Amino acid sequence: MEGKNSQLQQRKDDALPRGTGNLCQWYVEQAENATLRDVEGNSWIDFAGGIAVLNTGHRHPRIVQAIAHQLEKFTHTAFQVTPYESYVALAERINQRVPIAGKAKTAFFSTGAEAVENAVKVARAATRRHGIITFGNAFHGRTFMTMAMTGKVAPYKRDFGPMPASVFHARYPNSVSGISIDDALASLDDIFTQDIAPQDVAAIVLEPVQGEGGFHIAPAEFFTRLRALADRHGILLIADEVQTGFGRTGKLFAMEHYAVKADLITMAKSLAGGMPLSAVSGRAEIMDAPGPGGLGGTYAGNPLSIAAAHAVLDVIDEEKLCERSAQLGAQLNTFLQQARAHNSAITDVRALGSMVAVEFSDAQSAQTLQQQAMQRGLLLLTCGPQGNVIRFLYPLTIPDAQFRQALDILGSLLSQPQA
Ligand SMILES: Cc1ncc(COP(=O)(O)O)c(C=O)c1O
Repeated sequence: MEGKNSQLQQRKDDALPRGTGNLCQWYVEQAENATLRDVEGNSWIDFAGGIAVLNTGHRHPRIVQAIAHQLEKFTHTAFQVTPYESYVALAERINQRVPIAGKAKTAFFSTGAEAVENAVKVARAATRRHGIITFGNAFHGRTFMTMAMTGKVAPYKRDFGPMPASVFHARYPNSVSGISIDDALASLDDIFTQDIAPQDVAAIVLEPVQGEGGFHIAPAEFFTRLRALADRHGILLIADEVQTGFGRTGKLFAMEHYAVKADLITMAKSLAGGMPLSAVSGRAEIMDAPGPGGLGGTYAGNPLSIAAAHAVLDVIDEEKLCERSAQLGAQLNTFLQQARAHNSAITDVRALGSMVAVEFSDAQSAQTLQQQAMQRGLLLLTCGPQGNVIRFLYPLTIPDAQFRQALDILGSLLSQPQA
């Protein structure tokens, strides 16, 4: 008699197209804070967090309560038809906290890709220009525009072309690959001489820390010089904080680590603790560029998701999750630096708060660690252009003892050769 997991996997293979891949061959039945349990009663420490969605953990009681309370009132109206106060109040709360110069305004959507798409719409409407510059190894989503903006072909773009026009890729600074800040800025100049005049470029879009691309952190000097370059040419700067937001880097937004500000910021994932919600915040005069009805969507700012996001902001403040993110990240960083000293397959360790990654010399080492960790009850995700990086996206609410348990598992695996 086959186990429930393999039966489910067979049903999945039969009913779903193969393009919908799944990392784990086990199916979730229950989740609580940093623990996932499958249909066969096995459990895992969740260091994937639903891909950076669960900074406040699975089913935080405050968030569950907020959703339940909203369920008693209404679940959907379509904000653009019949508005509700909670949407406006959440925009007000985010406007107060988001690192944008001057008055900010915020609009809500459902997915990260949708937020990025709308940031591009706003930037084009505000500048009356069409060009969009993004970076190599960036990930911005799976819709057509965000797929074009993504700087990785397989598996995201292959077979799906042609891509929308007017999207150009510059080089993101990367000390491991030897791309200096000067190299990165020079690649923008190349775009201006080879592809598009700077006065036709609406926006430069970048992740302050590349997520899918391998947790590369934009150097402070790069951001300062990029801001100056953008200002010189009247180009808007959009920070894609879909993965970096809501405490992951030790601040509510990663842009708080930088001296300069973006004109627009996209956010999603941990914004609503597992409920689908995304947002674009930006300088009020820019956000007001599209005319009435130009922004929206049937489900944009769903009331249940908005209620969850209010609770997420409360939990981040009350449980001091930004401080905890910095503290857990520092602990993991020290641990990985020590592991690096006696594991020659480790080539780099990167951390900004709890946005922590360990890079290996080859993809096989990272995948072996991922598989061995999975067998030992620890769920890890890879990233990076070659899949040779392990990224850590544990809930910031994880109990200390469980965090240490995860480090013990990692420690025992990293002290063995990976391949
Ligand atoms: C930086 C960044 N932007 C955009 C997206 C797309 O978000 P979604 O999958 O919710 O559309 C992601 C998703 O991983 C992301 O990491």
